[in-house]
Amino acid sequence: MNILGIESSCDETSVAIISNDKLTANLVSSQEFHTKYGGVVPELSSRAHLQMVIPLLKDALKKSELRLDEIDVIAATAGPGLVGALLVGLTFAKGLAYSLKKPFVPVNHIEGHIFSGFLMDEKPEFPMLVLAVSGGHTLLLHVKSFYEIVKLGTTVDDAAGEAFDKVAKMLGLGYPGGPKIQKAASEGDPKKIKFPVADLAGRYDFSFSGLKTSVLRHIQKEYGPSLQIPEADRNDIAASFQYAVIKALIRNSERALKNYDVKTISIAGGVAANKALREAFAELAEKYNKKLVVPSMSYCGDNAAMIAYRGQKVFESGKTFTLGYNAYPSLPEGIFQD
Ligand code: KG4
Ligand code: ZN
Repeated sequence: MNILGIESSCDETSVAIISNDKLTANLVSSQEFHTKYGGVVPELSSRAHLQMVIPLLKDALKKSELRLDEIDVIAATAGPGLVGALLVGLTFAKGLAYSLKKPFVPVNHIEGHIFSGFLMDEKPEFPMLVLAVSGGHTLLLHVKSFYEIVKLGTTVDDAAGEAFDKVAKMLGLGYPGGPKIQKAASEGDPKKIKFPVADLAGRYDFSFSGLKTSVLRHIQKEYGPSLQIPEADRNDIAASFQYAVIKALIRNSERALKNYDVKTISIAGGVAANKALREAFAELAEKYNKKLVVPSMSYCGDNAAMIAYRGQKVFESGKTFTLGYNAYPSLPEGIFQD
Protein backbone atom coordinates (compact mmCIF):
# COMPACT_ATOMS: atom_id res chain seq x y z
CA MET A 1 0.00 0.00 0.00
CA ASN A 2 1.31 3.43 -0.98
CA ILE A 3 0.30 6.45 1.12
CA LEU A 4 0.94 9.99 -0.07
CA GLY A 5 1.19 12.67 2.65
CA ILE A 6 1.00 16.41 2.05
CA GLU A 7 1.74 19.10 4.65
CA SER A 8 1.19 22.85 4.16
CA SER A 9 -0.07 24.20 7.50
CA CYS A 10 2.53 26.93 8.00
CA ASP A 11 5.86 27.75 6.35
CA GLU A 12 7.00 24.29 5.26
CA THR A 13 5.71 22.60 2.12
CA SER A 14 6.28 18.89 2.43
CA VAL A 15 5.40 15.76 0.47
CA ALA A 16 6.11 12.23 1.69
CA ILE A 17 5.38 8.68 0.60
CA ILE A 18 5.07 5.61 2.80
CA SER A 19 5.25 2.49 0.65
CA ASN A 20 4.42 -0.84 2.30
CA ASP A 21 5.08 0.62 5.77
CA LYS A 22 8.44 2.08 4.73
CA LEU A 23 9.09 5.79 4.37
CA THR A 24 10.46 6.15 0.85
CA ALA A 25 10.43 9.96 0.52
CA ASN A 26 10.05 12.93 2.87
CA LEU A 27 10.80 16.15 1.03
CA VAL A 28 10.55 19.49 2.82
CA SER A 29 10.80 22.95 1.31
CA SER A 30 11.21 25.62 4.02
CA GLN A 31 10.14 29.17 3.28
CA GLU A 32 13.21 30.95 4.59
CA PHE A 33 12.09 34.32 3.17
CA HIS A 34 9.72 34.96 6.12
CA THR A 35 12.80 35.70 8.27
CA LYS A 36 13.07 39.20 6.90
CA TYR A 37 9.49 39.98 8.00
CA GLY A 38 10.09 38.70 11.56
CA GLY A 39 7.36 36.05 11.25
CA VAL A 40 5.28 34.07 8.77
CA VAL A 41 3.33 36.21 6.25
CA PRO A 42 0.24 34.07 5.50
CA GLU A 43 -0.39 35.25 1.93
CA LEU A 44 3.25 34.72 0.91
CA SER A 45 3.18 31.32 2.55
CA SER A 46 0.16 30.20 0.48
CA ARG A 47 1.81 31.35 -2.75
CA ALA A 48 5.02 29.49 -1.96
CA HIS A 49 3.07 26.30 -1.17
CA LEU A 50 1.38 26.62 -4.58
CA GLN A 51 4.74 26.87 -6.29
CA MET A 52 6.33 23.98 -4.44
CA VAL A 53 3.69 21.29 -4.06
CA ILE A 54 3.80 19.86 -7.60
CA PRO A 55 7.63 19.78 -7.95
CA LEU A 56 7.87 18.11 -4.53
CA LEU A 57 5.27 15.50 -5.50
CA LYS A 58 7.17 14.72 -8.71
CA ASP A 59 10.44 14.33 -6.77
CA ALA A 60 8.82 12.18 -4.08
CA LEU A 61 7.36 9.82 -6.72
CA LYS A 62 10.71 9.60 -8.48
CA LYS A 63 12.55 8.91 -5.24
CA SER A 64 10.01 6.21 -4.34
CA GLU A 65 10.11 4.75 -7.88
CA LEU A 66 6.35 5.02 -8.14
CA ARG A 67 3.90 6.40 -10.68
CA LEU A 68 1.10 8.68 -9.52
CA ASP A 69 -1.53 6.03 -10.31
CA GLU A 70 0.22 3.62 -7.92
CA ILE A 71 -0.70 5.82 -4.93
CA ASP A 72 -3.50 4.15 -2.92
CA VAL A 73 -4.39 6.77 -0.29
CA ILE A 74 -3.96 10.54 -0.31
CA ALA A 75 -3.54 12.19 3.11
CA ALA A 76 -3.16 15.91 3.75
CA THR A 77 -3.08 18.19 6.78
CA ALA A 78 -6.53 19.73 7.29
CA GLY A 79 -5.71 21.80 10.41
CA PRO A 80 -4.83 23.45 12.64
CA GLY A 81 -2.75 26.05 10.83
CA LEU A 82 -2.98 29.07 8.55
CA VAL A 83 -6.15 28.54 6.58
CA GLY A 84 -4.86 29.88 3.26
CA ALA A 85 -1.76 27.69 3.57
CA LEU A 86 -3.73 24.60 4.60
CA LEU A 87 -6.11 25.03 1.68
CA VAL A 88 -3.29 24.71 -0.85
CA GLY A 89 -2.23 21.22 0.29
CA LEU A 90 -5.72 20.09 1.19
CA THR A 91 -7.36 21.18 -2.06
CA PHE A 92 -4.51 19.72 -4.07
CA ALA A 93 -4.93 16.40 -2.21
CA LYS A 94 -8.68 16.38 -2.77
CA GLY A 95 -8.18 17.11 -6.47
CA LEU A 96 -5.73 14.23 -6.76
CA ALA A 97 -8.07 11.88 -4.90
CA TYR A 98 -10.93 12.85 -7.21
CA SER A 99 -8.99 12.39 -10.42
CA LEU A 100 -7.26 9.16 -9.32
CA LYS A 101 -10.46 7.81 -7.71
CA LYS A 102 -8.54 7.05 -4.52
CA PRO A 103 -9.53 7.69 -0.88
CA PHE A 104 -8.74 11.08 0.63
CA VAL A 105 -7.80 11.28 4.33
CA PRO A 106 -7.62 14.60 6.22
CA VAL A 107 -5.01 14.63 9.00
CA ASN A 108 -4.93 16.67 12.19
CA HIS A 109 -1.45 18.25 12.25
CA ILE A 110 -1.04 17.79 16.01
CA GLU A 111 -1.94 14.10 15.71
CA GLY A 112 0.79 13.94 13.08
CA HIS A 113 3.32 15.33 15.58
CA ILE A 114 2.09 13.08 18.42
CA PHE A 115 2.81 9.89 16.50
CA SER A 116 6.03 11.13 14.83
CA GLY A 117 8.01 8.92 17.25
CA PHE A 118 6.73 5.93 15.25
CA LEU A 119 8.85 7.07 12.30
CA MET A 120 11.92 6.07 14.31
CA ASP A 121 13.41 2.55 14.18
CA GLU A 122 12.83 2.10 17.91
CA LYS A 123 9.01 2.33 18.14
CA PRO A 124 7.09 3.74 21.12
CA GLU A 125 4.88 1.39 23.11
CA PHE A 126 1.40 2.30 24.37
CA PRO A 127 0.35 3.76 26.71
CA MET A 128 2.52 6.84 26.19
CA LEU A 129 2.93 10.24 27.74
CA VAL A 130 3.50 12.75 24.94
CA LEU A 131 4.52 16.37 25.27
CA ALA A 132 3.59 18.07 22.00
CA VAL A 133 5.28 21.46 21.83
CA SER A 134 5.18 23.66 18.75
CA GLY A 135 4.72 27.26 17.70
CA GLY A 136 0.97 27.05 18.15
CA HIS A 137 0.43 24.36 20.82
CA THR A 138 1.67 23.01 24.12
CA LEU A 139 -0.11 19.80 25.01
CA LEU A 140 0.54 17.11 27.58
CA LEU A 141 -1.21 13.95 26.46
CA HIS A 142 -1.98 10.47 27.70
CA VAL A 143 -1.94 8.46 24.48
CA LYS A 144 -3.48 5.03 25.07
CA SER A 145 -3.57 3.85 21.46
CA PHE A 146 -3.59 5.29 17.95
CA TYR A 147 -7.21 6.22 18.50
CA GLU A 148 -7.41 7.18 22.19
CA ILE A 149 -5.73 10.44 23.04
CA VAL A 150 -6.55 12.12 26.35
CA LYS A 151 -5.54 15.72 26.93
CA LEU A 152 -4.08 16.20 30.41
CA GLY A 153 -2.94 19.78 30.06
CA THR A 154 -2.43 22.64 27.65
CA THR A 155 -1.28 26.23 27.74
CA VAL A 156 -3.66 28.83 29.11
CA ASP A 157 -1.93 31.56 27.08
CA ASP A 158 1.14 31.39 24.81
CA ALA A 159 2.48 28.17 23.31
CA ALA A 160 6.04 27.24 24.29
CA GLY A 161 7.37 27.85 20.75
CA GLU A 162 5.57 31.18 20.61
CA ALA A 163 7.33 32.22 23.85
CA PHE A 164 10.69 31.27 22.29
CA ASP A 165 9.85 33.33 19.20
CA LYS A 166 8.70 36.38 21.19
CA VAL A 167 11.66 36.40 23.56
CA ALA A 168 14.05 35.99 20.60
CA LYS A 169 12.45 39.10 19.10
CA MET A 170 12.95 41.05 22.38
CA LEU A 171 16.60 40.03 22.35
CA GLY A 172 16.97 41.04 18.69
CA LEU A 173 17.83 37.48 17.69
CA GLY A 174 15.34 37.20 14.79
CA TYR A 175 12.89 34.54 13.58
CA PRO A 176 12.36 31.61 14.11
CA GLY A 177 13.31 32.18 17.71
CA GLY A 178 13.75 28.64 19.02
CA PRO A 179 17.03 27.75 17.32
CA LYS A 180 18.41 31.29 17.92
CA ILE A 181 17.61 31.17 21.64
CA GLN A 182 19.13 27.69 21.86
CA LYS A 183 22.36 28.91 20.31
CA ALA A 184 22.60 32.02 22.52
CA ALA A 185 21.66 29.93 25.58
CA SER A 186 24.51 27.51 24.93
CA GLU A 187 26.93 30.37 25.70
CA GLY A 188 24.99 31.69 28.70
CA ASP A 189 24.36 30.88 32.36
CA PRO A 190 20.87 29.36 32.93
CA LYS A 191 20.98 30.22 36.65
CA LYS A 192 21.98 33.88 36.16
CA ILE A 193 18.46 35.34 36.26
CA LYS A 194 15.59 33.76 38.17
CA PHE A 195 12.61 34.05 35.87
CA PRO A 196 9.27 32.87 37.29
CA VAL A 197 7.94 29.43 36.37
CA ALA A 198 4.14 29.47 36.59
CA ASP A 199 2.58 26.52 38.37
CA LEU A 200 -1.17 26.40 37.94
CA ALA A 201 -2.08 24.92 41.31
CA GLY A 202 -0.96 21.39 40.75
CA ARG A 203 -2.60 21.07 37.36
CA TYR A 204 -1.05 19.87 34.13
CA ASP A 205 -1.63 23.20 32.37
CA PHE A 206 1.09 25.63 31.35
CA SER A 207 1.38 29.42 31.25
CA PHE A 208 4.20 31.27 29.54
CA SER A 209 2.91 34.84 29.31
CA GLY A 210 4.12 35.81 32.81
CA LEU A 211 7.57 34.51 31.97
CA LYS A 212 7.59 36.45 28.71
CA THR A 213 6.54 39.66 30.51
CA SER A 214 9.20 39.21 33.15
CA VAL A 215 11.88 38.86 30.46
CA LEU A 216 10.59 42.11 28.92
CA ARG A 217 10.60 43.90 32.33
CA HIS A 218 14.13 42.68 32.99
CA ILE A 219 15.33 44.03 29.64
CA GLN A 220 13.57 47.38 30.17
CA LYS A 221 14.92 47.73 33.71
CA GLU A 222 18.50 46.79 32.95
CA TYR A 223 19.00 48.21 29.47
CA GLY A 224 16.34 50.93 28.99
CA PRO A 225 15.89 53.27 27.32
CA SER A 226 18.48 52.24 24.68
CA LEU A 227 17.69 48.52 25.03
CA GLN A 228 21.25 47.76 23.92
CA ILE A 229 22.01 44.38 25.49
CA PRO A 230 25.66 43.29 25.66
CA GLU A 231 26.15 39.86 24.05
CA ALA A 232 27.15 38.09 27.27
CA ASP A 233 24.01 39.38 29.01
CA ARG A 234 21.88 38.39 26.04
CA ASN A 235 23.22 34.85 26.27
CA ASP A 236 22.45 34.75 30.01
CA ILE A 237 18.89 35.98 29.43
CA ALA A 238 18.37 33.37 26.68
CA ALA A 239 19.77 30.60 28.89
CA SER A 240 17.74 31.65 31.94
CA PHE A 241 14.55 31.93 29.86
CA GLN A 242 15.11 28.52 28.22
CA TYR A 243 15.77 27.02 31.66
CA ALA A 244 12.43 28.39 32.96
CA VAL A 245 10.44 27.03 29.98
CA ILE A 246 12.00 23.59 30.29
CA LYS A 247 11.46 23.57 34.04
CA ALA A 248 7.71 24.10 33.50
CA LEU A 249 7.54 21.44 30.77
CA ILE A 250 9.42 18.88 32.83
CA ARG A 251 7.58 19.63 36.07
CA ASN A 252 4.16 18.91 34.56
CA SER A 253 5.43 15.88 32.66
CA GLU A 254 6.87 14.49 35.89
CA ARG A 255 3.60 15.17 37.70
CA ALA A 256 1.77 13.16 35.00
CA LEU A 257 4.31 10.34 35.23
CA LYS A 258 3.52 9.99 38.92
CA ASN A 259 -0.20 9.63 38.20
CA TYR A 260 -0.37 7.73 34.92
CA ASP A 261 1.18 4.40 34.27
CA VAL A 262 2.82 4.67 30.86
CA LYS A 263 5.43 2.59 29.03
CA THR A 264 6.88 5.30 26.81
CA ILE A 265 7.51 9.00 27.10
CA SER A 266 7.91 11.09 23.99
CA ILE A 267 8.26 14.71 22.90
CA ALA A 268 7.09 16.03 19.56
CA GLY A 269 6.73 19.26 17.58
CA GLY A 270 9.14 22.04 16.63
CA VAL A 271 10.27 22.79 20.21
CA ALA A 272 11.19 19.10 20.63
CA ALA A 273 14.23 19.98 18.49
CA ASN A 274 15.57 21.87 21.53
CA LYS A 275 18.71 20.16 22.79
CA ALA A 276 18.27 21.09 26.46
CA LEU A 277 14.66 19.84 26.41
CA ARG A 278 15.73 16.57 24.79
CA GLU A 279 18.37 16.10 27.49
CA ALA A 280 15.90 16.92 30.28
CA PHE A 281 13.42 14.40 28.85
CA ALA A 282 16.11 11.73 28.65
CA GLU A 283 16.86 12.30 32.35
CA LEU A 284 13.17 12.02 33.17
CA ALA A 285 12.89 8.72 31.28
CA GLU A 286 15.88 7.38 33.16
CA LYS A 287 14.59 8.51 36.54
CA TYR A 288 11.21 6.80 36.02
CA ASN A 289 12.57 3.89 34.04
CA LYS A 290 10.47 4.59 30.94
CA LYS A 291 11.19 3.97 27.31
CA LEU A 292 12.18 7.26 25.68
CA VAL A 293 11.29 7.93 22.06
CA VAL A 294 12.37 11.27 20.68
CA PRO A 295 11.84 11.92 16.96
CA SER A 296 14.98 12.81 15.02
CA MET A 297 15.36 16.48 14.10
CA SER A 298 13.83 16.00 10.64
CA TYR A 299 10.62 14.67 12.21
CA CYS A 300 10.35 17.42 14.88
CA GLY A 301 9.72 20.34 12.56
CA ASP A 302 6.78 20.24 10.18
CA ASN A 303 7.05 17.37 7.71
CA ALA A 304 4.77 15.20 5.58
CA ALA A 305 6.22 11.88 6.79
CA MET A 306 4.22 12.27 10.01
CA ILE A 307 1.13 13.22 7.96
CA ALA A 308 1.45 10.13 5.74
CA TYR A 309 1.99 7.95 8.85
CA ARG A 310 -1.02 9.36 10.67
CA GLY A 311 -3.03 9.27 7.43
CA GLN A 312 -2.37 5.56 7.13
CA LYS A 313 -3.55 4.95 10.72
CA VAL A 314 -6.72 6.98 10.18
CA PHE A 315 -7.35 5.11 6.92
CA GLU A 316 -6.80 1.75 8.67
CA SER A 317 -9.40 2.71 11.29
CA GLY A 318 -11.97 2.34 8.52
CA LYS A 319 -13.10 5.97 8.65
CA THR A 320 -14.02 7.52 5.34
CA PHE A 321 -14.17 11.17 4.39
CA THR A 322 -15.90 13.10 1.63
CA LEU A 323 -14.19 15.61 -0.60
CA GLY A 324 -16.32 18.24 1.16
CA TYR A 325 -14.02 18.01 4.23
CA ASN A 326 -12.77 21.52 4.96
CA ALA A 327 -9.63 23.08 6.45
CA TYR A 328 -9.80 24.23 10.09
CA PRO A 329 -7.57 26.95 11.60
CA SER A 330 -7.68 25.83 15.26
CA LEU A 331 -7.96 22.57 17.12
CA PRO A 332 -11.50 21.15 16.92
CA GLU A 333 -13.67 21.23 20.06
CA GLY A 334 -12.68 17.73 21.10
CA ILE A 335 -9.06 18.53 20.09
CA PHE A 336 -8.75 15.57 17.81
CA GLN A 337 -10.22 14.76 14.47
CA ASP A 338 -13.79 13.51 14.06
O1 KG4 B 1 6.02 22.24 14.81
P1 KG4 B 1 6.59 23.49 14.23
O2 KG4 B 1 7.66 23.36 13.18
O3 KG4 B 1 5.44 24.37 13.61
C1 KG4 B 1 4.21 24.47 14.25
O4 KG4 B 1 3.37 23.55 14.03
O5 KG4 B 1 4.06 25.43 15.04
O6 KG4 B 1 7.14 24.37 15.44
C2 KG4 B 1 7.72 25.63 15.25
C3 KG4 B 1 8.16 26.19 16.58
C4 KG4 B 1 8.65 27.63 16.48
O7 KG4 B 1 8.04 28.39 17.51
C5 KG4 B 1 10.15 27.51 16.73
O8 KG4 B 1 10.73 28.65 17.33
C6 KG4 B 1 10.22 26.30 17.64
O9 KG4 B 1 9.26 25.41 17.11
N1 KG4 B 1 11.56 25.67 17.61
C7 KG4 B 1 12.35 25.59 18.71
C8 KG4 B 1 13.58 25.00 18.26
N2 KG4 B 1 13.46 24.74 16.93
C9 KG4 B 1 12.21 25.16 16.55
N3 KG4 B 1 12.14 25.96 19.98
C10 KG4 B 1 13.15 25.76 20.85
N4 KG4 B 1 14.35 25.23 20.51
C11 KG4 B 1 14.61 24.83 19.24
N5 KG4 B 1 15.78 24.31 18.91
ZN1 ZN C 1 3.89 21.58 13.64
